[in-house]
Amino acid sequence: MFKNKINKNLNNQLNLENYSANLYLQMSAWCNIKNFKNASIFLKKNSIEELKHMEKIFNFLCEINILPIINLNISFKINFNSINDIFKKAYINEKKITRNINYISNIALKQKNFKIFHFLNWYILKQNEEEKTLKTILENLKFFNNNKKNIFIFDNLFLSKYI
Ligand SMILES: [Fe+2]
Repeated sequence: MFKNKINKNLNNQLNLENYSANLYLQMSAWCNIKNFKNASIFLKKNSIEELKHMEKIFNFLCEINILPIINLNISFKINFNSINDIFKKAYINEKKITRNINYISNIALKQKNFKIFHFLNWYILKQNEEEKTLKTILENLKFFNNNKKNIFIFDNLFLSKYI
């Protein structure tokens, strides 16, 4: 389907961004139902961001004449048991995305494909930003313990800075 490894991995990245968009949307729904309004808004905004990341790769692949292949069979069975669990899973997912971006960047460098390497630089910086935000939220979440009242304060006061 793909002539070379780098195109295949770029397409894989496109699908990872799509998965992330859906994951954040599912997390947003959970928070909405549990009445964590700011967390729900924050996660929905992230979902929209991830779709933009997907679109950016989609456009790039078309520009370099590679047909994007979108995985239409995303199997989605993930349960959340707390707001802490949600942010932990979001952070783990971003770390996974970062590893993949670094992996493709490394291939691009080895192949001296500077066009793709340059394209991926934007994602490297973006991942750094996203991991930092989630890490800050997780660190702060520790101070609110897992007490229901505190978590609502966390949602109302702390997360309002991020939406
Ligand atoms: Fe992303």
